[in-house]
Amino acid sequence: MPAQLIDGKAISAKVREEVAADVRHLIDTTGVEPHLVAVLVGDDPASAIYVRGKQKACEKAGIRSTLHRLPAETTQQQLTDLVQQLNADATVHGILVQLPLPDQIDPVAIIDAVAPEKDVDCFHPENVGLMVQGRPRFLPCTPHGCQRLLIESDVETSGKHAVVLGRSEIVGKPMALLLMQRGLAADATVTVCHSRTRDLAEQVRQADILVAAIGRPKFVTADMVKPGAVVIDVGINRVDDGIVGDVDFEPVREIASAITPVPGGVGPMTIAVLLQNTLKAARLLAE
Ligand code: GUN
Repeated sequence: MPAQLIDGKAISAKVREEVAADVRHLIDTTGVEPHLVAVLVGDDPASAIYVRGKQKACEKAGIRSTLHRLPAETTQQQLTDLVQQLNADATVHGILVQLPLPDQIDPVAIIDAVAPEKDVDCFHPENVGLMVQGRPRFLPCTPHGCQRLLIESDVETSGKHAVVLGRSEIVGKPMALLLMQRGLAADATVTVCHSRTRDLAEQVRQADILVAAIGRPKFVTADMVKPGAVVIDVGINRVDDGIVGDVDFEPVREIASAITPVPGGVGPMTIAVLLQNTLKAARLLAE
């Protein structure tokens, strides 16, 4: 029997409705209108599409959204100045600098420059530290989006073996942390695999829950998946015939018990958590 499809679009719509209701309540009770500012540097078409998606979702949830588009030649100083101006602007609750940035800009210095209280990506070291200690201010958008998919799909993770494929700062590393912590969609025994992992296929085959986030099209083949595993595919890879994930979807679907499609799986959840974080940032300011 093919795997159950985990419908990220539907689950994200549910989360976004929850956020919209909470936004209305916040505005009614405090007059504070949550406001996200996105900063897009250069003209990477994929980044422009992502940012547009984030803005549209904000507007639908009643969150004010502003976009700053800067040219590809923007300097480190110019971007830092803009971030500092947004930090100081009390009408701005969330700041999102879309990555990747052009080569002349050091992304770490920009991440450090964002006020931690407005860091709705949860990239700032203060927020990463709080998350590591299990007392998060914000939750990282894509990893927590994956957790919510597991929760809404009634996937038991406690005591299970979760394998995270990829160790990026944005997805793999925080995903492993969230899965090993105490709580919902957590309490798992976690293995992280990456480009230097020996016997990678054998490691991946041990997974009850597999999160694929390595950015290589159709990397996870059916022979690497344990029968009945739950497969979360974070990959968004542009290939000649469209967009594919990190998982070879059709054959793996025959083996797994549940699987996320690409598109329509994790992607919409990243945006839904971004809205939750923006609402939280506005609430913190309203306190
Ligand atoms: N680029 C790819 N994913 C993300 C994300 O979640 N946030 C930001 N700021 N940039 C990204």
